[in-house]
Amino acid sequence: MSAFRFSKISASLNALLAAIGLLTVAALTTPYITGQTRLILEVLLVSIWAAYVLQLIETLIMQRTRGVRGHALEIAVDVLAVLIPMAAFFFIRGRDQSLYCAIWLLKPLRGSTFFRLLGRVLTKEARNLIGVTSIFGIVLFGAALAAYIIERDVQPDKFGSIPLAMWWAVVTLSTTGYGDEIPQSFAGRVLAGLVMMSGIGIFALWAGILATGFYEEVRRQDFVRNWQLVAAVPLFQKLGSAALIEIVRALRPRVVPAGGIICRKGETGDQMFFIVEGRVSVATPNPVELGTGSFFGEMALISGEPRSATVSAATEVSLLSLYSSDFQMLSSSSPEIADIIRQTALERRGATPKT
Ligand code: CMP
Repeated sequence: MSAFRFSKISASLNALLAAIGLLTVAALTTPYITGQTRLILEVLLVSIWAAYVLQLIETLIMQRTRGVRGHALEIAVDVLAVLIPMAAFFFIRGRDQSLYCAIWLLKPLRGSTFFRLLGRVLTKEARNLIGVTSIFGIVLFGAALAAYIIERDVQPDKFGSIPLAMWWAVVTLSTTGYGDEIPQSFAGRVLAGLVMMSGIGIFALWAGILATGFYEEVRRQDFVRNWQLVAAVPLFQKLGSAALIEIVRALRPRVVPAGGIICRKGETGDQMFFIVEGRVSVATPNPVELGTGSFFGEMALISGEPRSATVSAATEVSLLSLYSSDFQMLSSSSPEIADIIRQTALERRGATPKT
């Protein structure tokens, strides 16, 4: 089992296996794939199914032995991905058997952080989305009603009832415009123009609500993560709650692998760094190491002079960076922290001989 650690690579492996499986299902629906080629594709489907059985077993074992709590949705997807093709194998005859493997469409959803994010955005924005959907429904019905009244005598076969006119309204409001139903009268064409413009407005509203929802959700996640990181820097423990919220919003997290250069001597510096975890080495004539809770890069930020030394990651290091504009904000909201940083910069300047 250890050779098949699905949990470690599940997101990309799921997407890859599902893509191969679905392409195979699609290929099997074409009538000219017969004989040996068909057999090979069916064996491929069985192999993917077997891989999904292993994945399900691993999920269940991890759940039981290591107490790793699986997401209910993930387990449901794993179970369906195995059971539905198996049931089709036993109970369905003929070429439709392989169609049931299309349930693997759900597999990439499993473990995908994007879909969880989408779910949260849809839940949070549900009221606004329902509001715009109601407007869509009202405009749709109004358009179908108006088109029915205007066009029913001219084209009774296409606009002879509201349900018939509804198809034209959907195609026009969504600005798809198949062109299978076209208003013939002048009034009908004016109506079509108005419906198309309303459609563009409604879709723009939907897009705007979703874009704002995504932006806010990503910001909220960043805020929660930064909040946890800020707790590791003792300097910030002096901050009051209002200033802490401001600084958490301003800080940008960054991870640098061991050996990576964070800033180079002589560069201009518009940001300083706080070490959340790990160590950095400052290449002064007498090299210095700074560890968790320390900060660096403050000298260039305060004086506007070039960086006094190259700083690189001695171990993998997790940092929070603060830009100069946000440092001004920190100076006014929490002068005592800004004073500590300025004082440290002065001491380090004195300790660093000019080269
Ligand atoms: P800055 O000059 O912006 O970029 C290099 C950083 O290395 C510098 O800010 C300080 O934060 C840090 N640094 C420079 N000299 C010393 C020193 N003697 N001790 C500790 N840190 C230093």
